[in-house]
Parts: sequence; C-alpha cells; structure tokens
Amino acid sequence: MTSADPYYRPALARIHHEGFGFHADACAPGILALLDDVRRRDGLVVEVGCGTGLLTRHLTDAGLRVVATDASPAMLDLARSYAPDAVEHRVLVLPDDPVPECDAVVSTGHALSYVPYRATLEAALVACARALRPGGVLALDLEDLTTRDAQMARPPTPWLGDDWALITERASDAPDHFARLMTTFMRRPDGAYERGFERHDNVLIDVEGVVRPLLEAEGLTVHIGLSFGDETNMEGLMVVVAHRPSA
Ligand SMILES: C[S@@+](CC[C@H](N)C(=O)[O-])C[C@H]1O[C@@H](n2cnc3c(N)ncnc32)[C@H](O)[C@@H]1O
Repeated sequence: MTSADPYYRPALARIHHEGFGFHADACAPGILALLDDVRRRDGLVVEVGCGTGLLTRHLTDAGLRVVATDASPAMLDLARSYAPDAVEHRVLVLPDDPVPECDAVVSTGHALSYVPYRATLEAALVACARALRPGGVLALDLEDLTTRDAQMARPPTPWLGDDWALITERASDAPDHFARLMTTFMRRPDGAYERGFERHDNVLIDVEGVVRPLLEAEGLTVHIGLSFGDETNMEGLMVVVAHRPSA
C-alpha cells in the first residue's frame, strides 16, 4: 500500500465491515484460545491490520487489552466506534512503523500480504516477531503461493449489501502475485449509485519454506496450519502460530 493510493478508502471500508465480518468471526474462537495465557496475565495484544475492529471486538469483549492498528485511516475510523474498548487505535503501516512491545501480535484477513514485495513482507514478519516479549505469541494468517491457482479459478464475484454492491475480479502478474480488482457502488441520498474502484495487490509467499525459517531465526517456535482453531478458511490461506520461549 502507498499513501498516494491507499487501500480501503471509506466506501470499501464500510463494505468490508458490513459484508466481510465472517472471517474474523470464524477465526476468533481459535485466536482467543491461543491467547488464554496472555489474558490470564493481563498481557498486551497488538493487532496489526485490524481493519474495522471485527476481531478486535471479540478480543476486548473477552477482557484482553488490545492496541488496534491498521494502515487505513478509514478502516480505523470504523474500528474506533465498533471496538471502542481497545486500549488504543493507531495508524500503523507495516513494515516501517514500529510495532509496540507486547505479549501477542495477532492478525486476520492476511493483512501482511498487502505489502508490495516479498522483502517487505519478510520485514513486516520480523518486526512483529521482535515486538514479542518472552512467552509471547504471534498468530496471523497469510496468503500462500497456492492462493494464486485457487483464486484465479474463480469467476468475477458479486456481493450485495442494503445500499451497496461490490464486484470483485482477479488478476495475477507472477507466481507470487495476486490482485483483487474491486468496483464498488454506494447508494447516495438522492438514490443514485456512486461508483468507485480499488485494486489490492497482494504478495504471495511460500509459508512453509520461507516464513518458518524466517521466524525460527528470530528465536520463535513455529506451527503452520490451515486454521487458528476449528474454522475452515479460504483455499491458499495459511495460519502461522509462533511462540517466543519464556525467559
Ligand atoms: C482484508 S483486510 C482484514 C481486516 C481485518 N483484520 C479483518 O479480518 O476483518 C486487510 C487489512 O490490512 C490492512 N493493511 C494493508 N496493508 C497494510 C500494512 N502495510 N500495514 C498494516 N495494515 C495493512 C488494510 O488496511 C486492511 O484493514
């Protein structure tokens, strides 16, 4: 994401909030179970790419202390009202903005996949790992290289809300690249629909072959799977759960 062409401007932020909560909802039970120890010791959770606060709200409702962060000011604006009990809502663009020291870093919706290059994604993962205190846990999902074939097999997909519509088309320029091309229609007060467009480029990564050794080199023990808990995720999405050993 670049500041000149930010992802998730206000129209798409609202569409995400109203139409795409199912992923954070499905992941929440598994993530909450992973954070059980952190909650018991009143540890601090940093959520990266929190979007509109869909997961944040599950975490704060369970009594966790959460710093909710995202690159998109429009997403964060919605998170402020949807998940008001976060300790803080902060614009944080990975990999350059510092990740606060914490006991857990969590993320859903492959937020780290939105950076432009593999090197940027690796830098973002290292920044998250280095923020963890001893005993800390990292739990996030990423788009694996296999995302490309799974996504490119899909036809253009329409989504409908009460006063919006979204059409998602897909493109890929390379084995490690996948983009969603999203045309939005938002009903205005006069009844006409305003059209918008966002293209989200994602960098795909070999999660087992690249992410595992990267995080192990940071001193973490790493588990890679298809889910945080019992949920079924989209094909190509991989879940990384890593622990920093206690001191
Ligand atoms: C698909 S949304 C997922 C939002 C939320 N986690 C959820 O599950 O509903 C991806 C999020 O990643 C954020 N994002 C994209 N690039 C980012 C970056 N470089 N640093 C931090 N967040 C980023 C976007 O603004 C967006 O909110």
